[in-house]
Amino acid sequence: MDLISYINNVSSQFESAELFFGHGTDNAFDEAVFLVYGMLGLNFYYELDEVNRELKESEISMINEKVRQRIEKHEPVAYLLKQTLFAGLNFNCDERALIPRSPIAELILNGFHPLLSSTPKRVLDLCTGSGCIGIAIANQFNECDVDLADIDESALELASSNVVLHGFGNRVATFQSDLFENLEGLYDLIVCNPPYISTYEYENLPEEYMAEPVLGLVGEERGLAIPLRVLREAAKYLQPAGLLILEVGFSNELLSQRLAGVPIRWLEFENGGEGVLAMDSGELQQYSGEFN
Ligand SMILES: C[S@@+](CC[C@H](N)C(=O)[O-])C[C@H]1O[C@@H](n2cnc3c(N)ncnc32)[C@H](O)[C@@H]1O
Repeated sequence: MDLISYINNVSSQFESAELFFGHGTDNAFDEAVFLVYGMLGLNFYYELDEVNRELKESEISMINEKVRQRIEKHEPVAYLLKQTLFAGLNFNCDERALIPRSPIAELILNGFHPLLSSTPKRVLDLCTGSGCIGIAIANQFNECDVDLADIDESALELASSNVVLHGFGNRVATFQSDLFENLEGLYDLIVCNPPYISTYEYENLPEEYMAEPVLGLVGEERGLAIPLRVLREAAKYLQPAGLLILEVGFSNELLSQRLAGVPIRWLEFENGGEGVLAMDSGELQQYSGEFN
């Protein structure tokens, strides 16, 4: 069988199974390409002409096993492959951290234009998980230093492996820290994709999410506990002209209601995604009373 016929076959199987697509793709065909190309070690950006190649029996049975796991256990493809793409870069990916999918990738690739007035020299990726956001920032701004912080040691092990993968050991450091607890100094930019969903929402999520660490998804106060702590504490760690980018996803309406007196700047995305706000150091100080 040739590669494209096999991909179409896998896509039909994914279509008929009751799968959820939301960990890197949003449809059965893209999911099939992601899995098949990934298993063959091919890059679907640069090796599209491989679709006509004939597959060996051994390749088909190896991939069929992963197709079975995707369908029967609802395991996300990125965990089956142990790798994924974020902001155009490869990342090691496994159950120690959430699968990278933040719309913040688009901001990074646009150099945070027009939000930043100058190139950041010191950046914090708070709640870093796999390290994808901070490492993609280090890749975008090749002279900045980046700190990756997470409360979870095992997520940080994965993040460290990604620092090594990208050869950024001289500019990117990891910190075990409950938010800002073990961090020092001032940052030009703090980017944070924290847990922001409630226990109730978590219990109603598709099975695919159950493969991910619950610490990366669920927070108290209907999901808003960690975002509110970040809003309360970030100003102390920002330069006077510093900027906070904070993701709360579909908890954006709840946060807007909770902070009714704060004019929140919600960012818009060309490639999909919502619930990411930008607030500068001055605004964080001005509205600090509202974050309690
Ligand atoms: C939504 S995941 C984000 C991972 C990554 N930034 C991304 O975009 O893929 C949230 C991360 O926050 C971490 N986390 C949860 N509570 C924390 C806390 N109090 N302090 C620091 N990190 C925390 C979790 O361990 C998890 O890795």
